[in-house]
Amino acid sequence: MMDDRAKTGITELDNMLRGGFMRGDAVLLAGSAGMGKTTLGLEYIINGITKYRENGLYVTFEQLPSQIYRDSANFGWQLKKMEEEDTLRVICTSPNLLLEASDGEHLFDSFIDEVHPKRIVVDSLSHLAMFVPQNELRKEMYKFVMYLKTKHLSSLLLWESPGLMGQVQSITEEGISFLVDAILILKPVEIESSMRKALGILKLRGSDHDKRLTEYEITSEGFKLRKPFVEYEGIMSGSPRKILRVSEADLLKSGLIKRR
Ligand SMILES: Nc1ncnc2c1ncn2[C@@H]1O[C@H](COP(=O)(O)OP(=O)(O)OP(=O)(O)O)[C@@H](O)[C@H]1O
Ligand SMILES: [Mg+2]
Repeated sequence: MMDDRAKTGITELDNMLRGGFMRGDAVLLAGSAGMGKTTLGLEYIINGITKYRENGLYVTFEQLPSQIYRDSANFGWQLKKMEEEDTLRVICTSPNLLLEASDGEHLFDSFIDEVHPKRIVVDSLSHLAMFVPQNELRKEMYKFVMYLKTKHLSSLLLWESPGLMGQVQSITEEGISFLVDAILILKPVEIESSMRKALGILKLRGSDHDKRLTEYEITSEGFKLRKPFVEYEGIMSGSPRKILRVSEADLLKSGLIKRR
């Protein structure tokens, strides 16, 4: 029987997700510029193909094919070869083409017939949303997400949240969050004057998950998760403070309390 989880293939992240994403779910990956959304998206697709024999589509409005092939090669991912083997399609298109095609025949139909994908990454949904009139946003996004679901795709939808500190309010404001089954955020954290990166799971419908913001780095091998920021509070608000754990002995030594 097929696992009911779509594993990311990044062990620590799958552990945080208690096994992986729920299969067939739409997952939003939100973060500000340069936080590694594209890298994580590619890794999810590549791991699907190489580790779990699940083919994938990578849809981008943001980059030229040559750029994606080049950047992926830096991580050791050979996209061209996978495309030749019909396990992957990299689709570089414009939001307009995608939106126009939403009646009847869908732009993705032929690619789905060719590679029978189980996974899809859309880089990015926020870019697509910019091409939709505000009053039709919910309807169009709903149609798009529903299309992916009828094709039984486990989707990772990238969302560029504005603002250097990667505040996530914009997601809920635009009413996108109700559409998706899970939300992951990537955000910069300034701690003791150095910039670090944190990943958090905001929601995961129908499953328990790790609630802690966890440090990650992007290395030449891709995403690497480190430890949760357990010693800090206020990370979401953008002003982390170290949580002081002061023992009674410390207090006695400092003279702040007196021995009874
Ligand atoms: N080969 C590599 N080795 C190590 N780090 C890398 C490598 N390639 C990229 N990075 C790091 O990843 C960051 C960008 O990652 P990525 O393009 O995935 O982010 P993004 O969130 O998609 O950004 P954007 O908002 O520009 O789309 C770079 O700023 C760099 O720090
Ligand atoms: Mg990107």
